[in-house]
Amino acid sequence: MAQPISTKLLLPGLSLFVFETPEQASVWVADQMVPLINSSKPPVLGLATGSTPIKLYAELIKRYKEGQISFKRTTTFNLDEYAIEHSHPLSYHSFMDTNLFNHVDIPRESINVPNGSLLLKENNDQEVEEHCKSYELKIASHGGLDLQILGIGRTGHIGFNEPGSDEKTKTRKIEIHTVTRQDAIREFGSIDLVPKTSITMGVSTILGAKRVILLAFGSSKAPIISQLLSEERLTTPSPQIPASYLFGHSNVQIVLDRQAAEQLEKE
Ligand code: PGA
Repeated sequence: MAQPISTKLLLPGLSLFVFETPEQASVWVADQMVPLINSSKPPVLGLATGSTPIKLYAELIKRYKEGQISFKRTTTFNLDEYAIEHSHPLSYHSFMDTNLFNHVDIPRESINVPNGSLLLKENNDQEVEEHCKSYELKIASHGGLDLQILGIGRTGHIGFNEPGSDEKTKTRKIEIHTVTRQDAIREFGSIDLVPKTSITMGVSTILGAKRVILLAFGSSKAPIISQLLSEERLTTPSPQIPASYLFGHSNVQIVLDRQAAEQLEKE
């Protein structure tokens, strides 16, 4: 069992867990997910991409291979997708296949990722809007998300809900913030190659999940984590830090490694 080095109840329903390493944090989150994935009710998972959840997905693959879990009855909904072809190696479709779906027994038809390729066509606003509405309806038709896994961007985004996104936002097209695009140079190699827009679940879509686990690892996340967990934000969520709307939810765990927690005030 992975043990946190500290835990704290920040608000009713909002807990903070700090682990020594991202590996230990990921094992703990996988431990949280096993009963849900194995529960008698078919599970509905909201999944995230980015570097943060890779170790969690590796841990879930390990548990699948050990026979602890099966994804046969699981339905997944990913948070977001770039304006990109599915087959592009840096699409989130490709990311999910590489880091999770190709290694477990989830039926292809149970996988849902927003169709960012619709953004590549010109004058296509109506089709995009219809797709976003049907994504929301499909989540609702499965009884909503049982658990949403989140990372956080340095802008305070969850999904691609960049600053300015409020708690009423639903699945939609959004411009990606410059800071987020700069962070993606890591993968795309140059700013010109980073997509400018994406389709993302909204903040309200995320808040509709029954449980939310937000992960943040590494010292690059320490400044936004300290702003997010400031006294001011905990009492007054703001569209400037869309992740702060999670504080209105009744079942949220924020899971950090020591580095991401390094700017939090010590008691
Ligand atoms: P990262 O991205 O996991 O690659 O740091 C997280 C996010 O932008 O939500």
